[in-house]
Amino acid sequence: MKVKAAVINEVDSPYVLEELTLSDIREDEILVKMVASGICHSDAVARAGGYPWYPVVLGHEGSGIVEKVGSAVRGFEPGDHVVLSYLYCGHCSNCLTGLPASCEEWMNFNLSGAREDGSLYFQREDGSPVYNFVSQSSFSTHTIVYERNLTKVDKSVDLRLVGPLGCGFLTGSGTVLNGLKPSPGSTIAIFGTGAVGLAAMMAAKISGCSQIIGVDIHDNRLEVAKQLGATHTINSKDVDVLSEIKRLTNDKGVNYSIDTTGVPSVARTSIEILAVGGVAAPIASSKHGVEVNFNADLNMLNRTIKGVLMGNAVPQLSIPQLIQFYKDGQFSFDQLVKFYKFDEINEASHDSSTGKTIKPILIIDEDYVPGT
Ligand SMILES: NC(=O)c1ccc[n+]([C@@H]2O[C@H](COP(=O)([O-])OP(=O)(O)OC[C@H]3O[C@@H](n4cnc5c(N)ncnc54)[C@H](O)[C@@H]3O)[C@@H](O)[C@H]2O)c1
Ligand SMILES: [Zn+2]
Ligand SMILES: [Zn+2]
Repeated sequence: MKVKAAVINEVDSPYVLEELTLSDIREDEILVKMVASGICHSDAVARAGGYPWYPVVLGHEGSGIVEKVGSAVRGFEPGDHVVLSYLYCGHCSNCLTGLPASCEEWMNFNLSGAREDGSLYFQREDGSPVYNFVSQSSFSTHTIVYERNLTKVDKSVDLRLVGPLGCGFLTGSGTVLNGLKPSPGSTIAIFGTGAVGLAAMMAAKISGCSQIIGVDIHDNRLEVAKQLGATHTINSKDVDVLSEIKRLTNDKGVNYSIDTTGVPSVARTSIEILAVGGVAAPIASSKHGVEVNFNADLNMLNRTIKGVLMGNAVPQLSIPQLIQFYKDGQFSFDQLVKFYKFDEINEASHDSSTGKTIKPILIIDEDYVPGT
């Protein structure tokens, strides 16, 4: 079938809306008509060269309506409302123990640009390839996914809002709820108060952290952080973060920290500011490394550095939970969102990278009416 998709043709080039051919679905595949898609910072990283496959249809925070299912699909039917997330195999030892973000096939499934057998979902009219991203490519009017990519949501849920629950908001909240699991009363510092950091902040509040310290270089973001649960905010352009956090924690440092900036010096601070026995989660996509002295920074203070992918979440369990937190007024991610038309994708992407918009969402199906 013909679809309209936003294509990145080469590193750092703009999105171009093009007509592409989407292949037929196979027996275990599902065709989804996209309603909306968030833009995640990781799309910008891929566009800037952090992905080997071009041309590519990016986007991995999609939400939509199932249009067609293959003959072997059991859990979904046409008309189901769904949020898309990453793909996992479902049968490796990590998947079987409830850790699909650690699926042994994760890289292969999500970052190889094609199906397992190398065949492509998208191509141009001349037959030339256009690659896939995070087993999703949601910047398209339709896409093909598997049952394990999908989480069914109630039809009363506004599909325009919930795509980012499949990545950015899932990552931030899950890093706290599934990765760090802070005990009530513990302290946490969150570096970078963008979509991921603010979701982490709301989850830290839900977890009962006593001090939630938000660090950023933009006062407007720190204002939002205060509204969403930060007990303290620090603009690191004006204040020395290490000494300020020490002051706030009676010289102890924090039990937990998360770096969402990917700036090496900030990631380094997020480790240095840990209390004895503290845990740091550096979760930003970054090309840069950070040097750590195992003895001085970790062993002698019994600290841990923990990698957390996609919030270590099982999307099918966490997305409904986040929607419930949202309905209960504890996870107000809608305050972070701005809608754009599909053909405003370059402007939306620009507003995300300049910090103007925390979470841009492209409305791909303008005819969708929430609640229907
Ligand atoms: N681990 C994962 O599974 C996963 C999943 C999704 C996203 N990510 C990554 O998480 C990161 C955050 O994503 P996001 O969408 O929240 O991005 P974002 O750009 O909205 O947020 C980053 C924040 O960091 C702040 N910042 C930048 N430099 C700073 C500095 N020197 N000191 C303090 N604050 C600074 C920015 O002002 C911004 O508010 C990205 O790198 C993204 O690729 C990781
Ligand atoms: Zn697996
Ligand atoms: Zn993402």
